[in-house]
Amino acid sequence: MGMGKATAMVFAAAGASVVLADINETMGRKAAEDIKHNGGKAHFVKTDVSNSESVKNLVAETVSQFGKLDVAVNNAALTPDKTPTGDFDEAYFDRVIAVNLKGPALCMKWELQQMTKQGHGGSIINIASINAFKPQYNMPAYTASKHAVVGLTKTAALEYGAQGIRVNTIAPGAILTEMSAASLKSIGTSHEAFADVSYLKRWAAPHEVAQGSLWLASDAASYVTGITLPVCGGYSTR
Ligand SMILES: NC(=O)c1ccc[n+]([C@@H]2O[C@H](COP(=O)([O-])OP(=O)(O)OC[C@H]3O[C@@H](n4cnc5c(N)ncnc54)[C@H](O)[C@@H]3O)[C@@H](O)[C@H]2O)c1
Ligand SMILES: *[C@@H]1O[C@H](CO)[C@@H](O)[C@H](O)[C@H]1NC(C)=O
Repeated sequence: MGMGKATAMVFAAAGASVVLADINETMGRKAAEDIKHNGGKAHFVKTDVSNSESVKNLVAETVSQFGKLDVAVNNAALTPDKTPTGDFDEAYFDRVIAVNLKGPALCMKWELQQMTKQGHGGSIINIASINAFKPQYNMPAYTASKHAVVGLTKTAALEYGAQGIRVNTIAPGAILTEMSAASLKSIGTSHEAFADVSYLKRWAAPHEVAQGSLWLASDAASYVTGITLPVCGGYSTR
């Protein structure tokens, strides 16, 4: 759902064959069906990004379905935690690190092995957050996991650049999705109250972030690697 679904739709509309991966089979299958209905090429693979075997299977199924892996967008994450550092929930901290940090690491592990084997480069996009450089209250695990995704991205960009594999991060700002709705509800506020974080005085639609991924995936970004691209309506510059 959210940005993952929008990204699959934007890539499919640009002519890509897309594999959608999510732990939620009902939502994932429906998203893939929607894309096929609109004439796109899509396939769903139920995946838990915190499980290495599951991600290995995702990459293998992608290759058996479409023959190769050119681009990967690592987007899955758990919603932010809700308590200050002095009071953080240890069980949820572990889950957030497992999904939001080890998740993209495992995705990159299997994606990089496949792209290396193919030998013609590739593009990987990890979805972080504005929290990767601007902390917000009461999200210590989420904020730490998103900072770490930037480090992971830079490391892989350094290691795999010689093979023509580009690795970048996108840092979304305030984006209208199920996740942000749940997050706002839990802290007792509304979308309207938060629109001011952007110079544009509005929230973004998920497809506006997907367009950033599409650019980073394309040859138009052929000399761009290791960066964090904020898609946040200016929030990161405030
Ligand atoms: N919504 C925002 O305002 C916002 C802002 C900054 C960054 N982000 C980031 O953008 C990305 C997408 O966020 P969204 O708002 O679309 O979230 P969302 O909650 O709408 O979607 C997240 C998806 O991840 C899936 N998921 C959760 N755990 C998984 C697992 N273990 N394996 C596989 N899939 C799993 C969920 O089922 C869901 O479909 C996330 O990385 C999020 O942290 C969101
Ligand atoms: C999948 O997502 C839908 C919509 O958010 C939700 O109703 C359903 O319970 C989820 N299924 C699982 C197995 O998490």
